[in-house]
Amino acid sequence: MAEKTLERILVTGAAGQIGSELIPALCEKEDTDIVVATVLNDKEKKYLEDIVKSDKLSIEILDVRNKDDFDSIAKENDINGMYHLAGILSAKGEENPYLACDVNVNGLLNALEVARKYKIKTFWASSIAAFGPDTPKEKTPQNPPMHPTTMYGLNKLWGEQLCEYYAKNYDVDIRSVRFPGIISYKTLPGGGTTDYAVQIFYDALKKGEFTCPLDKNTRLPMMYMPDAIKGMIDIMNAPKGSIKVRTSYNIGAVDFTPEELESAIKNSGRSFKMKYEINKTLQRIADSWVDSVDDSKAREDWGWNPEYDILATICYDMLYHLSKKLHLEERIIKY
Ligand code: SER
Repeated sequence: MAEKTLERILVTGAAGQIGSELIPALCEKEDTDIVVATVLNDKEKKYLEDIVKSDKLSIEILDVRNKDDFDSIAKENDINGMYHLAGILSAKGEENPYLACDVNVNGLLNALEVARKYKIKTFWASSIAAFGPDTPKEKTPQNPPMHPTTMYGLNKLWGEQLCEYYAKNYDVDIRSVRFPGIISYKTLPGGGTTDYAVQIFYDALKKGEFTCPLDKNTRLPMMYMPDAIKGMIDIMNAPKGSIKVRTSYNIGAVDFTPEELESAIKNSGRSFKMKYEINKTLQRIADSWVDSVDDSKAREDWGWNPEYDILATICYDMLYHLSKKLHLEERIIKY
């Protein structure tokens, strides 16, 4: 029997909210040979070194806009699998649209070029931001009208088309999902519209109150980090022929409003106060997105099946793990 090829994986944007949790999961897999994590600077490198201890991990500094550096890292490490996660999120993208477009679009273009040249199976994260005001809001189908109104959303929509182009014309094995807001306790997200749904847990535990930048009735699709990690690994493990969508798959887990999240936190028995001070930019972005998605195609093609589909369960788990983490950090600071 032929020996199974060990995976030599490249992860860009490795110190970000998703990367920092994907890396340990990849290092733990038996069939992983090495994980090359790319970060933007020494500060991110140090952060990743502190939170991930594995002999399989090697960390490189890379600006994904630099095609030659991207190419050298892939070539020198004989990479055969890639997760391209580096990107600038929606709110930060509205502050600096040129930078967002440069990183999100040219970074992906470079990733696809490297994937084509070295035949690297590649995952890329798209987003619900690729939808727009004319997209049906509830149970959004796989292929609805999509006219995003944010720079980030435009980048994601164009990125999806680019992925399909490389798959069709160069047989690049590209796999992608449209992530909703991701909730996690390890690394904070930065510059996103859905970030409130993470920050609220920190403020609930540290201060017992939170000022929400979105209106209480703003419903958005969300997902707990373990499901996001499972989704990425499952789509990458699926047989090539089962991946029928080469733009990006809808994947859903939960959807809720700030008011529902407020109640869920209060139901945990904590004293918690919530104020609403609407941030116009964030509200405009959130209003242009959808409430929930129809993910039947992902379920059918590669078995997408989230474990955390109840808000109360996510809330309980977040509060439990985050209070342990914050308590630990407090002790480290004290002694
Ligand atoms: N979480 C992202 C954002 O809010 C959406 O993909 O920008």
